[in-house]
Amino acid sequence: MTASRIVALGHHQPPKILSNDDLSAVVDTDDEWIRSRVGIRTRHIAEDETLVDLAVGAAQKALANAGTTPDQIDLVAVATCTAVERSPNTAAAVAARLGIPTPAAYELNTACSGFSYALATADHAIRAGAATRALVVGVERMSDIIDWTDRTTCVIFGDGAGAAVLEAVPDERAGIGPVVWGSEPEKGEAVAISGWKPVISQQGQTVFRWATTQVAPLARRACEKAGIDPSELRGFVAHQANLRIIDAIAGKLGLAEDAVVARDVVDSGNTSAASIPLALSKLVERGELHSGDPVLLFGFGGGLAYAGQVVRCP
Ligand code: UT7
Repeated sequence: MTASRIVALGHHQPPKILSNDDLSAVVDTDDEWIRSRVGIRTRHIAEDETLVDLAVGAAQKALANAGTTPDQIDLVAVATCTAVERSPNTAAAVAARLGIPTPAAYELNTACSGFSYALATADHAIRAGAATRALVVGVERMSDIIDWTDRTTCVIFGDGAGAAVLEAVPDERAGIGPVVWGSEPEKGEAVAISGWKPVISQQGQTVFRWATTQVAPLARRACEKAGIDPSELRGFVAHQANLRIIDAIAGKLGLAEDAVVARDVVDSGNTSAASIPLALSKLVERGELHSGDPVLLFGFGGGLAYAGQVVRCP
């Protein structure tokens, strides 16, 4: 039986940083409100870099960290909800820029849970024998879909990308656990990105209540499916939506006291599909998580869709 594992990660953020004080010069807000309600201090905003530039930046680092050359990749999956171009899709555009010759290349949009969905589909393709080495990217230019006069959304989001290189391994070395995924379509209107020049809007409290009540049991189910107790996890990387949501879910999981909880939202804001690989890549790069460590990833948001799995760190 064939399975897959994450060989390496990489991330990329545009250099321009917007502070809460910068935003309070643009809309009626302040540092205290943003920090206490969402936990964000700064976010990165792309200027000249396109969505594909951001994805390529993260992918190049992941490939270099993996020691993998572009010609060895046979599947590229890109999760994003901020693509402007419809064809070629973002995965094909990324593959072209990287010189990946003939990959299966697809883009996937489940908003904030996109990376966990893309990771699962790439893992499934490898398990089915349809691919052997995959590049999975989560990337967003949220700044493109923000109404910069709407204080309820413009303080929350940021731009960035994270990437993972996967390879086929025998089942006993599997590094990506079974996915728990689904959605609650009847609540779909709670996060909307709509129109020809799309703009994001959300019913913040509806999503907040859903995330803080529904996600923890689903995340526990992902642990059960992986055959691991939450107390055995070395890390928890939730979608980086809001520090209060992250801490509420983490508090319900029964993690060990010294488990690492990703809180990259503080520095990066909410980067939707990019937030999980971005946060995980930073924790591994900083040595806060080590090779083989079991880590629970859990994405949730627009859709309202969710997906998560336990992975082993590269
Ligand atoms: O990643 C996609 C999935 N999305 C999420 O996970 C988002 C989940 N929801 C949240 O994170 C929170 O609901 C928000 C951070 C979006 C909002 O926080 P909240 O504590 O739920 O605030 P609220 O919407 O209830 O608004 C409270 C007050 C309102 O004023 P009034 O009506 O009480 O006078 C808002 O107008 O805060 C006001 N407000 C602001 N004040 C200063 C809203 N945005 C701001 C702001 N600065 N930026």
